[in-house]
Amino acid sequence: MAATDHNNIENKLYPVPECLTPSTPTPYVTSIEQYQKIYKESITHPTVFWGKLAKEMLHWHKPFETVVSGGFLHGDVTWFAEGELNASYNCVDRHAKENPDKIAIIHESDEPEQSRKISYGELLRDVNRLANTLKSLGLRKGDTVAIYLPMVPEAAVAFLACARLGIIHSVVFAGFSAEALRDRIQDAASKLVITADEGRRGGKTIHMKKIVDAAVNECPTVEHVLVFRRTGSEVPFQAPRDLWWHEEIRKHRPYCVPEVMNSEDPLFLLYTSGSTGKPKGVLHTTAGYLLGAMTTFKYVFDYHPNDVFGCMADIGWVTGHTYIVYGPLCSGATTVLFESTPIYPTPSRYWQVVAKHKITQFYTAPTAIRLLRKLGHEHVEGHDLSSLRVIGTVGEPINPEAWEWYNEVVGKKKCAIVDTYWQTETGSIVLSPLPGAIPTKPGSATFPFFGIALAVLDPVTGQELEGNGVEGVLAIKQPWPSMTRTIYNNHDRYLDTYLNVYKGYYFSGDGVGRDKDGYYWIRGRVDDVISVAGHRLSSAEIESALILHKAVAETAAIGVDDELTGQAVNAFVTLKPKYTDVTDAKELILQVRQTIGPFAAPKKIYIVSGLPQTTSGKIMRRILRKIVENKEDQLGDLSTLLNPSIIPVLIEKVRNS
Ligand code: PRX
Repeated sequence: MAATDHNNIENKLYPVPECLTPSTPTPYVTSIEQYQKIYKESITHPTVFWGKLAKEMLHWHKPFETVVSGGFLHGDVTWFAEGELNASYNCVDRHAKENPDKIAIIHESDEPEQSRKISYGELLRDVNRLANTLKSLGLRKGDTVAIYLPMVPEAAVAFLACARLGIIHSVVFAGFSAEALRDRIQDAASKLVITADEGRRGGKTIHMKKIVDAAVNECPTVEHVLVFRRTGSEVPFQAPRDLWWHEEIRKHRPYCVPEVMNSEDPLFLLYTSGSTGKPKGVLHTTAGYLLGAMTTFKYVFDYHPNDVFGCMADIGWVTGHTYIVYGPLCSGATTVLFESTPIYPTPSRYWQVVAKHKITQFYTAPTAIRLLRKLGHEHVEGHDLSSLRVIGTVGEPINPEAWEWYNEVVGKKKCAIVDTYWQTETGSIVLSPLPGAIPTKPGSATFPFFGIALAVLDPVTGQELEGNGVEGVLAIKQPWPSMTRTIYNNHDRYLDTYLNVYKGYYFSGDGVGRDKDGYYWIRGRVDDVISVAGHRLSSAEIESALILHKAVAETAAIGVDDELTGQAVNAFVTLKPKYTDVTDAKELILQVRQTIGPFAAPKKIYIVSGLPQTTSGKIMRRILRKIVENKEDQLGDLSTLLNPSIIPVLIEKVRNS
């Protein structure tokens, strides 16, 4: 898309809100010039910049000597190489020592009246008892544990207990099906699964233990399943494999010596979708990840010691890892863990929560904002939102209308809006305005965070595009501390996906524009990754699920624009000859729900007689996307198609359904 197409929105510039320039507390960065100065230093002298921050912000058992080594060419980046530290010590012990009564976690339960507050002192004891439990089960440094938990504080306890022992946690979002969970447990060869009897969300029950049972039946590495009692309902229980959390922790003392870890030892794995059917285990290491989480938490959200930070994401995704657990806790902050949905029991729920806990920074996804905007501003009115200073979004591009609504109705034009762009792989925010410093443009994530050397590349030549008013793909040209170091057990895939595409650069997979004022605009994925309500899926993953159905011969899944969820999944399917008149689309949708999870269900399935294929057999998803978007005049070059006569048939089919 040409830069000029965006001119109208690019010209809208919002100054930093009055109350942030300078109010109490004064923002850390108060002008764009100051941001530019710090940014320049961070890029020119990364060793000085990050070395200083790492010393100041983290507690080291042994100091590091080398700040950064290695690079993108060989995929051998390391940060703070000789340093030794422990993530749970950094997130809990040091704050519990100083301020044991400070609230670490506010649990806002699915049912509003059941909130719970946990102090740093309590968190320390809980983490230690669980760490001792894990130790007694034979788990050791380097083992992996799968965490499949609802949004309860015990999820954070589980993360940190693993981190205390150097066990690599692999959290699987509680919306994933048994099959998706099984694949992730198998890939990481996890020895333990930590789950709950059931989860609760939006008044509904999620049968977590049953899902885990179905998954674990096919996972020979799993020795135990540790079950947290969330609802108390009767669930199947298989001794001696299954153990109750509350019974096990009772056996152990609340102190466990933290394992001293090297900076580059793995902290966690998080599976995410790429362009193949098989999800990749993105691996993050200890020191660099924590430093990225802490610095972005401090500067992007302008976190100050008495703030109450409310990130509405799920701990099953990277946003929950970095901005519910590690960023806030490593900073000694009070973090809100929200179990429910924006509309349960009413569409005022978010605002009730903000008012009740006096949240100062509120962080959610554009999809939630679009939904609440649609339901009407009356649900926001009457709630005291005066505690808010910074309101943020993440996960997908935010359309200017939703941004304006967020600014006016929620922020009352007094809050800084931070549209934060980042990825599971980047570990922490890489592009965002800084409150107090950067004038915003609705829909633009504005400028790179400190230490992020952004480049816009020509997608074809790989040449870096200089100057303003350019469009290309987003790449990063210098290592940053919280970048993923590898894909679990598949370093070649890591190199091929991120570092070999454009030599010398980290390739994000996103299209980007840099406008005439140097502001960045994320245009969306340039690969086959689909984002549904901010949940990342791939075409291949959905196709692999559909093809498992006995009637399906061939399939192509695409992401199409959706007013509420940003993108929705649509799939085209051809059937095997003997099934042509029996199968209906509902059955196929169910197939995807069962294989991946309900959030991946295609919104629409077209059963067709053929798919557009190139002579080399490649299905042209791009053409299908244009047909669904009613852009038949933009189908492009069809000369490489094996079966061009299928195009009018597909157009007809889409129009009539
Ligand atoms: O396409 C970008 C989109 O989400 C992708 C990363 O997804 P995931 O790894 O699941 O992490 C989501 C939460 C960090 C990116 O490649 N994305 C994320 N944030 C934004 C965004 N697109 C536009 N604007 C954003 N602020």
